[in-house]
Amino acid sequence: MEQQTAQPEMTVIGGVDEIVEEFQPKIEAMICTYCTYAAADLAGSQRLQYPPTVKIVKYPCTGRISVAHILKAFELGADAVLVGGCEVGTCHFIEGNLRATERVAYAKKLLEETGLGGDRLEMFYISASDSHGFVNAVNEMTDRAKKMGPNFLGQARG
Ligand code: FES
Repeated sequence: MEQQTAQPEMTVIGGVDEIVEEFQPKIEAMICTYCTYAAADLAGSQRLQYPPTVKIVKYPCTGRISVAHILKAFELGADAVLVGGCEVGTCHFIEGNLRATERVAYAKKLLEETGLGGDRLEMFYISASDSHGFVNAVNEMTDRAKKMGPNFLGQARG
């Protein structure tokens, strides 16, 4: 399957001679198939707008997402990662989203210790009908990554 890559936006700063590429953060959305993936699908059906630089990785439940999966996403160049699961009390595997919450909290501490910054990672609870919740989560992580700058691990990989 061919992977799409978004083209950087061009911003004209001071005329034709000064065209600067605007930083478009790469966001990885690690989401559960029952709720957040359905919300993302609905957002597409409703033609809601969100940054095209989000890569969606679907899991059967956020309880399957390990700290290693999250850190690997950053190692591979994600500028921010969102984990999206069912709302509390509605996980199809009872408490997978609660386990994910604990793992995200631990991974945030590791990101702080590495200097990358814990704010590049967040847990969201998004129901299947909450297409706007999905869009808001992508926008929030994009804004955070823009403020924090590119992931230096991803830049080191080239
Ligand atoms: Fe959605 Fe567990 S099934 S978080």
